Amino acid sequence: MFKSRTSYVVHYDEAILKKTALKTWTLLKALRSFKIPVPFSCGGEGICTTCRVIVVKGKVSERTPLEKERAEERNFLDNERLSCQCWPLEQNIEIKVP
Ligand code: FES
Repeated sequence: MFKSRTSYVVHYDEAILKKTALKTWTLLKALRSFKIPVPFSCGGEGICTTCRVIVVKGKVSERTPLEKERAEERNFLDNERLSCQCWPLEQNIEIKVP
């Protein structure tokens, strides 16, 4: 059956939240819908890197060319992602907001 929502486990500020969001939403949009105040000073344009999260489990989209550039400049880990630049590709995603 087609599922239109993604289930998230989010580690934030020593809490673990379980939420769902539309699967078409970026991780940033999902996190903000959960009322997690992820900074996004460039407005989600992939420039500022303030929306960085760690993907603990689950598959998300490949890095966009813009995100690749930022990740190389700042020596991101493979699972360190710009939440405004990636989307869930699986039903269950676990992320940590640093
Ligand atoms: S909000 Fe600026 S890079 Fe994501």
